Amino acid sequence: MKRDGANKSLWQENETYVPSVIAGTQEKYDVVIVGGGMTGMITALTLQESGKKCLVAEARTLGFGTTSGTTAHLNTFMDSTYPEIEKNFSKKDAAIICSESKEAISLIAKGVSRFNLDCGFSSKDGFLFSKNADESRKLDEIYEASLRAGCEVNYTDELPMPAKYEKVIVFRQQAQFEPVAYLYGITKAFEACGGKIIEDCRVTGFKGSENLEIETSQGVLSGKNLVYATHVPPGVNLLHFRCAPYRSYVLAVELADNAYPDALIYDMENPYHYYRTQNVNNKRYLIVGGEDHKTAHEENTNACFIQLEAHLRQLFDVSKVAYKWSSQFYQPVDGLPYIGHLPGNPANVFTATGYNGDGMVYSHIAAKVLKDCINGISNELTELLDPNRIKPVAGFSDFVKEAADVVGNFTAGIFDKNKINSLAELAPGEASMVKYDGESMAIYKDESGGLHAVNPACTHINCKVSFNNTEQSWDCPCHGARYDINGQMLNGPARKDLKRFDLSSSD
Ligand code: FES
Repeated sequence: MKRDGANKSLWQENETYVPSVIAGTQEKYDVVIVGGGMTGMITALTLQESGKKCLVAEARTLGFGTTSGTTAHLNTFMDSTYPEIEKNFSKKDAAIICSESKEAISLIAKGVSRFNLDCGFSSKDGFLFSKNADESRKLDEIYEASLRAGCEVNYTDELPMPAKYEKVIVFRQQAQFEPVAYLYGITKAFEACGGKIIEDCRVTGFKGSENLEIETSQGVLSGKNLVYATHVPPGVNLLHFRCAPYRSYVLAVELADNAYPDALIYDMENPYHYYRTQNVNNKRYLIVGGEDHKTAHEENTNACFIQLEAHLRQLFDVSKVAYKWSSQFYQPVDGLPYIGHLPGNPANVFTATGYNGDGMVYSHIAAKVLKDCINGISNELTELLDPNRIKPVAGFSDFVKEAADVVGNFTAGIFDKNKINSLAELAPGEASMVKYDGESMAIYKDESGGLHAVNPACTHINCKVSFNNTEQSWDCPCHGARYDINGQMLNGPARKDLKRFDLSSSD
Protein backbone atom coordinates (compact mmCIF):
# COMPACT_ATOMS: atom_id res chain seq x y z
CA MET A 1 0.00 0.00 0.00
CA LYS A 2 1.01 3.63 -0.46
CA ARG A 3 1.37 6.35 2.13
CA ASP A 4 2.26 10.04 2.23
CA GLY A 5 6.04 9.70 2.51
CA ALA A 6 9.09 8.05 0.96
CA ASN A 7 9.85 5.88 4.00
CA LYS A 8 7.99 2.60 4.40
CA SER A 9 6.07 2.04 7.60
CA LEU A 10 5.60 -1.33 9.29
CA TRP A 11 1.90 -1.23 8.40
CA GLN A 12 2.59 -1.02 4.67
CA GLU A 13 3.38 -4.73 4.73
CA ASN A 14 -0.39 -5.24 4.54
CA GLU A 15 -1.58 -6.35 1.16
CA THR A 16 -3.45 -3.38 -0.32
CA TYR A 17 -7.21 -3.68 -0.09
CA VAL A 18 -8.95 -2.21 -3.12
CA PRO A 19 -12.61 -1.37 -2.52
CA SER A 20 -15.25 -2.39 -5.04
CA VAL A 21 -15.49 0.06 -7.92
CA ILE A 22 -18.83 1.85 -7.93
CA ALA A 23 -20.63 2.64 -11.13
CA GLY A 24 -21.19 6.36 -11.57
CA THR A 25 -21.77 8.98 -8.94
CA GLN A 26 -25.37 9.90 -9.72
CA GLU A 27 -27.00 8.66 -6.51
CA LYS A 28 -27.92 10.95 -3.64
CA TYR A 29 -26.22 10.23 -0.33
CA ASP A 30 -27.19 11.14 3.22
CA VAL A 31 -23.52 11.68 4.05
CA VAL A 32 -20.45 12.12 1.87
CA ILE A 33 -17.29 11.56 3.88
CA VAL A 34 -14.05 13.00 2.54
CA GLY A 35 -11.05 10.87 3.47
CA GLY A 36 -10.56 7.11 3.73
CA GLY A 37 -8.39 7.06 6.85
CA MET A 38 -9.37 5.88 10.31
CA THR A 39 -11.73 8.77 11.05
CA GLY A 40 -13.42 8.57 7.66
CA MET A 41 -13.94 4.83 7.68
CA ILE A 42 -15.11 4.40 11.27
CA THR A 43 -17.45 7.38 10.87
CA ALA A 44 -18.77 5.94 7.61
CA LEU A 45 -19.34 2.52 9.17
CA THR A 46 -21.05 4.00 12.25
CA LEU A 47 -23.40 6.13 10.13
CA GLN A 48 -24.11 3.40 7.56
CA GLU A 49 -25.00 0.96 10.33
CA SER A 50 -27.35 3.57 11.81
CA GLY A 51 -29.29 3.68 8.54
CA LYS A 52 -27.61 6.56 6.69
CA LYS A 53 -26.61 6.08 3.08
CA CYS A 54 -22.90 6.94 2.96
CA LEU A 55 -20.16 7.42 0.42
CA VAL A 56 -16.45 7.83 1.18
CA ALA A 57 -14.40 9.89 -1.31
CA GLU A 58 -10.65 9.31 -0.87
CA ALA A 59 -8.20 11.50 -2.80
CA ARG A 60 -5.58 8.73 -3.00
CA THR A 61 -6.00 5.24 -1.52
CA LEU A 62 -7.38 4.02 1.80
CA GLY A 63 -5.07 4.77 4.73
CA PHE A 64 -2.74 6.94 2.60
CA GLY A 65 -2.37 9.60 5.31
CA THR A 66 -1.58 9.35 9.00
CA THR A 67 -3.43 6.05 9.52
CA SER A 68 -0.53 4.19 7.91
CA GLY A 69 2.00 6.26 9.89
CA THR A 70 0.57 6.06 13.40
CA THR A 71 2.08 3.82 16.07
CA ALA A 72 -1.47 2.90 17.11
CA HIS A 73 -1.36 3.25 20.88
CA LEU A 74 -4.90 2.92 22.24
CA ASN A 75 -4.84 4.79 25.52
CA THR A 76 -6.93 6.53 28.12
CA PHE A 77 -3.83 8.54 29.08
CA MET A 78 -3.87 11.29 26.45
CA ASP A 79 -1.17 13.62 25.04
CA SER A 80 -3.09 16.50 26.61
CA THR A 81 -2.82 15.27 30.16
CA TYR A 82 -5.70 15.35 32.63
CA PRO A 83 -4.14 18.24 34.63
CA GLU A 84 -4.07 20.23 31.38
CA ILE A 85 -7.68 19.35 30.53
CA GLU A 86 -8.75 20.29 34.06
CA LYS A 87 -6.93 23.62 33.73
CA ASN A 88 -8.16 24.53 30.24
CA PHE A 89 -11.66 23.08 30.69
CA SER A 90 -12.87 21.52 33.96
CA LYS A 91 -12.65 18.40 36.13
CA LYS A 92 -15.99 17.31 34.74
CA ASP A 93 -14.67 17.65 31.17
CA ALA A 94 -11.56 15.63 32.07
CA ALA A 95 -13.88 12.88 33.32
CA ILE A 96 -15.82 13.00 30.04
CA ILE A 97 -12.63 12.52 28.01
CA CYS A 98 -11.54 9.63 30.24
CA SER A 99 -14.92 7.93 29.92
CA GLU A 100 -15.07 8.47 26.15
CA SER A 101 -11.54 7.15 25.62
CA LYS A 102 -12.46 3.99 27.54
CA GLU A 103 -15.57 3.65 25.41
CA ALA A 104 -13.54 4.15 22.21
CA ILE A 105 -11.14 1.31 23.14
CA SER A 106 -14.12 -0.86 24.01
CA LEU A 107 -15.73 -0.03 20.65
CA ILE A 108 -12.54 -1.12 18.86
CA ALA A 109 -12.43 -4.36 20.87
CA LYS A 110 -16.07 -5.07 20.01
CA GLY A 111 -15.45 -4.33 16.32
CA VAL A 112 -12.46 -6.71 16.28
CA SER A 113 -14.63 -9.44 17.73
CA ARG A 114 -17.81 -8.64 15.75
CA PHE A 115 -16.05 -8.58 12.37
CA ASN A 116 -13.50 -11.23 13.31
CA LEU A 117 -10.58 -8.95 12.46
CA ASP A 118 -7.05 -10.35 12.37
CA CYS A 119 -5.34 -7.09 13.37
CA GLY A 120 -3.17 -7.96 16.38
CA PHE A 121 -5.50 -6.28 18.87
CA SER A 122 -4.61 -6.88 22.49
CA SER A 123 -5.10 -5.21 25.87
CA LYS A 124 -1.95 -3.89 27.55
CA ASP A 125 -0.93 -1.91 30.59
CA GLY A 126 0.45 1.58 29.89
CA PHE A 127 3.44 2.79 31.95
CA LEU A 128 4.51 6.41 32.44
CA PHE A 129 7.82 7.02 34.18
CA SER A 130 9.79 9.98 35.52
CA LYS A 131 13.57 10.33 35.72
CA ASN A 132 14.10 13.42 37.88
CA ALA A 133 12.40 15.52 40.54
CA ASP A 134 10.71 17.87 38.11
CA GLU A 135 9.27 14.99 36.08
CA SER A 136 8.22 13.22 39.30
CA ARG A 137 6.29 16.31 40.43
CA LYS A 138 4.46 16.37 37.07
CA LEU A 139 3.89 12.63 37.23
CA ASP A 140 2.28 13.01 40.68
CA GLU A 141 -0.05 15.67 39.25
CA ILE A 142 -0.91 13.42 36.31
CA TYR A 143 -1.62 10.55 38.67
CA GLU A 144 -3.97 12.62 40.86
CA ALA A 145 -5.87 14.16 37.92
CA SER A 146 -6.09 10.84 36.06
CA LEU A 147 -7.56 9.22 39.15
CA ARG A 148 -10.08 12.06 39.52
CA ALA A 149 -11.01 11.69 35.83
CA GLY A 150 -11.79 8.01 36.34
CA CYS A 151 -8.70 6.24 34.99
CA GLU A 152 -7.70 2.92 36.45
CA VAL A 153 -4.17 3.97 37.47
CA ASN A 154 -1.76 3.23 40.29
CA TYR A 155 1.89 3.60 41.32
CA THR A 156 4.16 0.67 40.73
CA ASP A 157 7.81 -0.21 41.44
CA GLU A 158 8.32 -1.98 38.17
CA LEU A 159 9.01 -0.66 34.70
CA PRO A 160 8.96 -3.30 31.94
CA MET A 161 11.95 -1.85 30.06
CA PRO A 162 15.58 -1.27 31.02
CA ALA A 163 15.53 2.46 31.79
CA LYS A 164 16.49 4.30 34.96
CA TYR A 165 13.49 5.85 36.67
CA GLU A 166 12.39 7.68 39.78
CA LYS A 167 8.65 6.97 39.76
CA VAL A 168 6.27 4.91 37.62
CA ILE A 169 2.51 4.87 37.26
CA VAL A 170 0.57 2.28 35.33
CA PHE A 171 -2.71 2.76 33.46
CA ARG A 172 -4.75 -0.43 33.14
CA GLN A 173 -6.86 -1.54 30.18
CA GLN A 174 -4.92 0.21 27.42
CA ALA A 175 -4.57 -1.57 24.06
CA GLN A 176 -2.81 -1.79 20.70
CA PHE A 177 -3.49 -3.05 17.20
CA GLU A 178 -2.26 -2.99 13.60
CA PRO A 179 -4.00 0.12 12.25
CA VAL A 180 -4.09 -0.73 8.55
CA ALA A 181 -5.30 -4.31 9.10
CA TYR A 182 -8.06 -2.90 11.32
CA LEU A 183 -8.86 -0.15 8.79
CA TYR A 184 -9.25 -2.66 5.98
CA GLY A 185 -11.45 -4.81 8.23
CA ILE A 186 -13.89 -2.01 9.05
CA THR A 187 -13.83 -0.95 5.38
CA LYS A 188 -15.06 -4.38 4.35
CA ALA A 189 -17.73 -4.22 7.06
CA PHE A 190 -18.82 -0.81 5.71
CA GLU A 191 -19.10 -2.18 2.17
CA ALA A 192 -20.93 -5.28 3.43
CA CYS A 193 -23.70 -3.10 4.82
CA GLY A 194 -24.07 -1.10 1.61
CA GLY A 195 -21.50 1.69 1.99
CA LYS A 196 -19.73 3.00 -1.11
CA ILE A 197 -16.12 4.13 -1.57
CA ILE A 198 -14.39 5.95 -4.42
CA GLU A 199 -10.60 6.14 -4.44
CA ASP A 200 -8.53 8.67 -6.43
CA CYS A 201 -11.42 11.07 -5.98
CA ARG A 202 -10.33 14.48 -4.70
CA VAL A 203 -13.08 16.70 -3.33
CA THR A 204 -12.39 20.24 -4.51
CA GLY A 205 -15.36 22.13 -3.06
CA PHE A 206 -19.13 22.21 -2.84
CA LYS A 207 -22.12 24.35 -3.74
CA GLY A 208 -25.45 24.79 -2.01
CA SER A 209 -26.50 24.61 1.60
CA GLU A 210 -29.23 22.03 2.27
CA ASN A 211 -28.56 19.69 -0.60
CA LEU A 212 -24.88 19.89 -1.34
CA GLU A 213 -23.38 19.54 -4.78
CA ILE A 214 -19.92 18.24 -3.95
CA GLU A 215 -17.33 18.88 -6.64
CA THR A 216 -14.70 16.21 -7.14
CA SER A 217 -12.06 15.11 -9.60
CA GLN A 218 -14.54 12.40 -10.68
CA GLY A 219 -17.59 14.59 -11.12
CA VAL A 220 -20.25 16.05 -8.86
CA LEU A 221 -21.60 14.10 -5.87
CA SER A 222 -24.86 14.84 -4.16
CA GLY A 223 -25.08 14.73 -0.36
CA LYS A 224 -27.26 16.03 2.45
CA ASN A 225 -24.22 16.18 4.76
CA LEU A 226 -20.50 16.52 4.19
CA VAL A 227 -17.78 15.35 6.61
CA TYR A 228 -14.15 16.38 6.10
CA ALA A 229 -12.22 13.51 7.66
CA THR A 230 -9.00 14.75 6.08
CA HIS A 231 -6.84 15.13 9.21
CA VAL A 232 -7.27 18.91 8.90
CA PRO A 233 -10.07 20.47 6.84
CA PRO A 234 -9.13 21.93 3.44
CA GLY A 235 -9.45 25.58 2.44
CA VAL A 236 -8.78 28.46 4.78
CA ASN A 237 -10.48 28.04 8.11
CA LEU A 238 -10.36 29.26 11.68
CA LEU A 239 -9.19 25.80 12.74
CA HIS A 240 -5.91 26.28 10.88
CA PHE A 241 -5.05 28.90 13.48
CA ARG A 242 -6.05 26.62 16.34
CA CYS A 243 -4.09 23.50 15.33
CA ALA A 244 -0.33 23.32 14.78
CA PRO A 245 1.19 20.58 12.57
CA TYR A 246 3.94 18.39 14.06
CA ARG A 247 6.06 15.53 12.77
CA SER A 248 6.92 12.47 14.86
CA TYR A 249 9.55 9.81 14.08
CA VAL A 250 9.25 6.06 14.45
CA LEU A 251 11.60 3.05 14.33
CA ALA A 252 10.48 -0.59 14.30
CA VAL A 253 13.46 -2.67 15.41
CA GLU A 254 14.41 -6.26 16.15
CA LEU A 255 16.19 -7.05 19.43
CA ALA A 256 19.12 -9.45 19.76
CA ASP A 257 18.13 -10.61 23.25
CA ASN A 258 14.39 -10.91 22.60
CA ALA A 259 13.68 -8.62 25.58
CA TYR A 260 10.61 -7.01 24.05
CA PRO A 261 8.51 -5.06 26.59
CA ASP A 262 4.97 -6.38 26.81
CA ALA A 263 3.35 -3.00 27.47
CA LEU A 264 2.82 0.54 26.24
CA ILE A 265 5.51 2.77 27.80
CA TYR A 266 6.11 6.53 27.86
CA ASP A 267 8.94 8.62 29.29
CA MET A 268 8.49 12.29 30.22
CA GLU A 269 11.25 13.91 28.20
CA ASN A 270 10.40 16.86 26.02
CA PRO A 271 9.61 15.66 23.42
CA TYR A 272 8.77 12.34 24.98
CA HIS A 273 9.47 8.81 23.67
CA TYR A 274 6.86 6.11 23.34
CA TYR A 275 7.41 2.35 23.11
CA ARG A 276 5.45 -0.78 22.39
CA THR A 277 5.86 -4.25 20.85
CA GLN A 278 3.85 -5.74 17.99
CA ASN A 279 3.99 -9.01 16.09
CA VAL A 280 3.51 -8.48 12.37
CA ASN A 281 3.62 -11.40 9.90
CA ASN A 282 4.98 -13.65 12.66
CA LYS A 283 7.86 -11.31 13.44
CA ARG A 284 8.21 -9.28 16.61
CA TYR A 285 9.16 -5.63 16.58
CA LEU A 286 9.84 -3.03 19.21
CA ILE A 287 8.24 0.20 17.97
CA VAL A 288 9.65 3.43 19.39
CA GLY A 289 8.61 6.96 18.53
CA GLY A 290 9.69 10.47 19.42
CA GLU A 291 11.85 13.43 18.32
CA ASP A 292 8.67 15.41 17.54
CA HIS A 293 9.00 18.88 16.08
CA LYS A 294 6.79 21.41 14.35
CA THR A 295 6.40 20.52 10.69
CA ALA A 296 9.10 22.08 8.49
CA HIS A 297 10.93 23.46 11.54
CA GLU A 298 13.79 20.94 11.33
CA GLU A 299 16.34 21.44 8.61
CA ASN A 300 17.66 17.86 8.57
CA THR A 301 14.81 15.47 9.31
CA ASN A 302 17.13 12.49 8.76
CA ALA A 303 18.98 13.55 11.90
CA CYS A 304 15.79 12.88 13.91
CA PHE A 305 16.06 9.18 13.06
CA ILE A 306 19.74 9.16 14.00
CA GLN A 307 18.96 10.71 17.39
CA LEU A 308 16.06 8.32 17.96
CA GLU A 309 18.19 5.30 17.12
CA ALA A 310 21.02 6.51 19.41
CA HIS A 311 18.50 6.92 22.22
CA LEU A 312 17.08 3.45 21.63
CA ARG A 313 20.49 1.75 21.49
CA GLN A 314 21.31 3.11 24.95
CA LEU A 315 18.38 1.10 26.30
CA PHE A 316 17.96 -1.97 24.12
CA ASP A 317 20.19 -4.49 22.31
CA VAL A 318 19.04 -3.59 18.80
CA SER A 319 20.04 -6.14 16.15
CA LYS A 320 18.27 -4.55 13.20
CA VAL A 321 16.38 -1.38 12.36
CA ALA A 322 13.72 -2.93 10.16
CA TYR A 323 11.54 0.12 9.45
CA LYS A 324 11.73 3.84 9.96
CA TRP A 325 9.11 6.40 9.07
CA SER A 326 7.69 9.73 10.17
CA SER A 327 4.16 10.95 10.41
CA GLN A 328 2.15 14.08 11.05
CA PHE A 329 -0.22 15.10 13.82
CA TYR A 330 -2.06 18.29 14.74
CA GLN A 331 -1.77 19.80 18.19
CA PRO A 332 -4.87 21.76 19.24
CA VAL A 333 -4.25 25.01 21.07
CA ASP A 334 -6.47 24.22 24.07
CA GLY A 335 -5.62 20.51 24.21
CA LEU A 336 -8.83 18.92 22.91
CA PRO A 337 -9.76 18.05 19.33
CA TYR A 338 -12.27 19.94 17.21
CA ILE A 339 -15.08 17.62 16.17
CA GLY A 340 -18.42 18.80 14.80
CA HIS A 341 -19.66 21.65 12.62
CA LEU A 342 -16.92 23.20 10.46
CA PRO A 343 -16.85 26.94 11.32
CA GLY A 344 -17.81 29.28 8.49
CA ASN A 345 -19.73 26.61 6.57
CA PRO A 346 -23.36 25.54 6.23
CA ALA A 347 -24.79 23.65 9.23
CA ASN A 348 -24.49 20.30 7.43
CA VAL A 349 -20.70 20.47 6.90
CA PHE A 350 -18.58 18.81 9.60
CA THR A 351 -14.99 18.01 10.44
CA ALA A 352 -12.74 16.28 12.97
CA THR A 353 -9.19 17.51 13.58
CA GLY A 354 -6.62 18.37 16.27
CA TYR A 355 -6.21 14.86 17.70
CA ASN A 356 -2.67 15.48 19.00
CA GLY A 357 -0.94 12.07 19.21
CA ASP A 358 -4.15 10.23 20.09
CA GLY A 359 -5.64 9.75 16.64
CA MET A 360 -6.69 6.14 16.96
CA VAL A 361 -8.80 6.87 20.05
CA TYR A 362 -10.12 10.26 18.96
CA SER A 363 -11.10 8.93 15.51
CA HIS A 364 -13.53 6.58 17.27
CA ILE A 365 -14.79 9.35 19.54
CA ALA A 366 -15.25 11.43 16.37
CA ALA A 367 -17.46 8.77 14.81
CA LYS A 368 -19.81 9.00 17.79
CA VAL A 369 -19.80 12.80 17.89
CA LEU A 370 -20.31 13.20 14.13
CA LYS A 371 -23.19 10.72 14.19
CA ASP A 372 -24.87 12.81 16.90
CA CYS A 373 -24.17 16.07 15.05
CA ILE A 374 -25.63 14.73 11.80
CA ASN A 375 -28.72 13.56 13.68
CA GLY A 376 -29.08 16.99 15.31
CA ILE A 377 -28.31 15.65 18.79
CA SER A 378 -26.54 17.96 21.20
CA ASN A 379 -24.98 16.67 24.42
CA GLU A 380 -22.10 17.45 26.74
CA LEU A 381 -19.58 15.68 24.47
CA THR A 382 -20.65 17.45 21.25
CA GLU A 383 -20.53 20.76 23.14
CA LEU A 384 -17.12 20.02 24.67
CA LEU A 385 -15.51 19.22 21.31
CA ASP A 386 -17.45 21.79 19.25
CA PRO A 387 -15.01 23.36 16.72
CA ASN A 388 -16.79 26.69 17.21
CA ARG A 389 -15.80 26.87 20.87
CA ILE A 390 -13.65 29.80 21.88
CA LYS A 391 -11.42 29.15 24.84
CA PRO A 392 -9.30 31.98 26.18
CA VAL A 393 -6.21 29.81 26.61
CA ALA A 394 -2.80 31.04 27.72
CA GLY A 395 -0.38 30.91 24.80
CA PHE A 396 -2.96 31.31 22.04
CA SER A 397 -1.57 34.63 20.83
CA ASP A 398 1.96 33.13 20.67
CA PHE A 399 0.51 30.17 18.82
CA VAL A 400 -1.03 32.41 16.15
CA LYS A 401 2.03 34.67 16.07
CA GLU A 402 4.26 31.69 15.40
CA ALA A 403 2.30 30.90 12.25
CA ALA A 404 2.24 34.59 11.26
CA ASP A 405 6.02 34.83 11.70
CA VAL A 406 6.52 32.06 9.23
CA VAL A 407 4.34 33.85 6.70
CA GLY A 408 6.50 36.92 7.25
CA ASN A 409 9.63 34.93 6.41
CA PHE A 410 8.34 34.12 2.97
CA THR A 411 9.55 37.23 1.24
CA ALA A 412 12.77 37.55 3.22
CA GLY A 413 13.86 33.93 2.90
CA ILE A 414 13.08 33.31 -0.72
CA PHE A 415 15.61 35.80 -2.03
CA ASP A 416 18.45 34.68 0.21
CA LYS A 417 21.53 35.38 -1.93
CA ASN A 418 23.48 32.47 -0.44
CA LYS A 419 21.08 30.06 -2.05
CA ILE A 420 20.92 31.70 -5.45
CA ASN A 421 22.97 29.83 -8.06
CA SER A 422 23.03 26.71 -5.91
CA LEU A 423 21.18 24.83 -8.66
CA ALA A 424 24.39 23.41 -10.10
CA GLU A 425 25.82 22.55 -6.68
CA LEU A 426 23.18 20.08 -5.51
CA ALA A 427 24.26 16.52 -4.79
CA PRO A 428 21.80 13.70 -5.54
CA GLY A 429 19.18 13.55 -2.78
CA GLU A 430 19.61 17.23 -1.89
CA ALA A 431 17.19 20.09 -2.23
CA SER A 432 17.49 23.84 -2.19
CA MET A 433 15.71 27.12 -2.87
CA VAL A 434 17.06 29.11 -5.79
CA LYS A 435 16.16 32.12 -7.84
CA TYR A 436 16.66 31.20 -11.45
CA ASP A 437 15.78 33.16 -14.57
CA GLY A 438 13.57 35.44 -12.51
CA GLU A 439 11.63 32.60 -10.87
CA SER A 440 11.80 31.42 -7.26
CA MET A 441 12.18 27.66 -7.30
CA ALA A 442 12.31 24.78 -4.86
CA ILE A 443 14.70 22.33 -6.48
CA TYR A 444 15.31 18.66 -5.69
CA LYS A 445 17.93 16.48 -7.37
CA ASP A 446 16.98 12.82 -7.36
CA GLU A 447 19.39 9.90 -6.97
CA SER A 448 19.86 9.59 -10.74
CA GLY A 449 20.63 13.29 -11.10
CA GLY A 450 17.23 14.39 -12.39
CA LEU A 451 16.09 17.84 -11.28
CA HIS A 452 12.57 18.49 -10.00
CA ALA A 453 11.57 22.14 -9.65
CA VAL A 454 8.41 23.57 -8.11
CA ASN A 455 7.20 26.95 -6.97
CA PRO A 456 7.83 27.03 -3.18
CA ALA A 457 4.70 29.08 -2.42
CA CYS A 458 2.25 26.75 -0.66
CA THR A 459 -1.07 26.83 -2.52
CA HIS A 460 -2.95 27.15 0.78
CA ILE A 461 -2.02 30.70 1.79
CA ASN A 462 1.45 31.16 0.34
CA CYS A 463 3.86 30.21 3.13
CA LYS A 464 7.19 28.93 1.85
CA VAL A 465 7.52 25.15 1.84
CA SER A 466 10.63 23.49 3.21
CA PHE A 467 12.27 20.20 2.18
CA ASN A 468 11.79 17.12 4.34
CA ASN A 469 14.83 15.08 3.37
CA THR A 470 13.77 11.81 4.96
CA GLU A 471 10.26 11.66 3.47
CA GLN A 472 11.34 13.51 0.29
CA SER A 473 8.49 15.94 0.47
CA TRP A 474 7.99 19.70 0.48
CA ASP A 475 6.32 20.53 3.80
CA CYS A 476 4.58 23.75 4.75
CA PRO A 477 5.39 25.13 8.21
CA CYS A 478 2.16 27.10 8.57
CA HIS A 479 -0.65 24.55 8.52
CA GLY A 480 1.08 21.35 7.47
CA ALA A 481 0.25 20.93 3.77
CA ARG A 482 2.73 18.56 2.13
CA TYR A 483 3.70 17.92 -1.49
CA ASP A 484 5.88 15.34 -3.27
CA ILE A 485 9.03 16.26 -5.20
CA ASN A 486 6.95 17.09 -8.26
CA GLY A 487 4.57 19.29 -6.30
CA GLN A 488 1.72 16.81 -6.13
CA MET A 489 -0.29 17.30 -2.94
CA LEU A 490 0.20 14.66 -0.22
CA ASN A 491 -1.73 16.31 2.64
CA GLY A 492 -4.13 19.25 2.97
CA PRO A 493 -5.23 21.80 3.94
CA ALA A 494 -4.13 23.00 0.48
CA ARG A 495 -6.47 22.10 -2.36
CA LYS A 496 -4.03 22.38 -5.26
CA ASP A 497 -0.61 21.02 -6.25
CA LEU A 498 2.46 23.26 -6.26
CA LYS A 499 3.22 24.78 -9.64
CA ARG A 500 5.85 22.68 -11.38
CA PHE A 501 8.56 24.20 -13.57
CA ASP A 502 9.68 22.65 -16.80
CA LEU A 503 13.43 23.07 -16.46
CA SER A 504 14.26 22.13 -19.98
CA SER A 505 12.22 25.02 -21.37
CA SER A 506 13.46 27.60 -18.86
CA ASP A 507 17.06 27.73 -20.13
FE1 FES B 1 -1.32 26.91 5.09
FE2 FES B 1 0.77 26.14 3.62
S1 FES B 1 -0.59 24.91 4.76
S2 FES B 1 0.04 28.13 3.94
